[in-house]
Amino acid sequence: MILLGVNIDHCATVRQARYRQAAATAGGAVEPDPVTLAVLAERAGADGITVHLREDRRHIQERDVWRLRESIATRLNLEMACTPAMTAFALKLKPDFVCLVPESREEVTTEGGLDVKGGRQRVADCVAAMNAAGIKASLFIDPDEAQIETSAAVKAPFVELHTGAYANAYFTPARAAEFKRLRVGAVRAHELGLTVNAGHGINYVNIAEVRTLPHLHELNIGHSIISRALFTGIDEAVREMKKRMNE
Ligand code: PXP
Repeated sequence: MILLGVNIDHCATVRQARYRQAAATAGGAVEPDPVTLAVLAERAGADGITVHLREDRRHIQERDVWRLRESIATRLNLEMACTPAMTAFALKLKPDFVCLVPESREEVTTEGGLDVKGGRQRVADCVAAMNAAGIKASLFIDPDEAQIETSAAVKAPFVELHTGAYANAYFTPARAAEFKRLRVGAVRAHELGLTVNAGHGINYVNIAEVRTLPHLHELNIGHSIISRALFTGIDEAVREMKKRMNE
């Protein structure tokens, strides 16, 4: 069975649009609360909750992450930049997983994944710190052979293959080639002993093909689930995605 990590950043985006200056939850008036959403997503079958604590704090805030750490019953996956400040934060928080993602332009590969090859020592240091603390590290990378091989070389246990280029190409002739890149990447990562996750741009339509990727362990999905939840509620949105993932 493919696992589902629900990314709840967009819930915090909506809250911040109105309540950027509000102190904490201000007596329950501050909504929507991403922690409440996370608990409901878990109840509907989410296998984990994913948040990206961005350096610019544009959506999820530090206090959200601490509240999640105490409240959720599944697994917390903290997406973060590969910086000393975020490494120190993760070591204090002790999430179950961290996923290193690019935030600044120099960390980004051509397609948008983390440039593990270009920033090898920095990534290796962060992965070593996580491995030593018992936090499972994942690297969000393009399905590119050099990035996959370097991810294995720096001893990351997981990679998350960036499905954004494939998702963008979905209704174009480039789709088949993008899907092939993901398939080849998943096989190569698996051969090298990496556990294969995937994410970005996955929705209720392209999931029918994404789920056929070999060796898939977990998908991290945010935008489409949060969007659908506006119409159906989070319970139905999560259940429907899990059903389509494992049809
Ligand atoms: N995985 C990673 C590493 C991400 O940064 C994001 C959010 O940008 C996602 C998955 C979820 O992407 P989406 O919101 O498009 O489902």
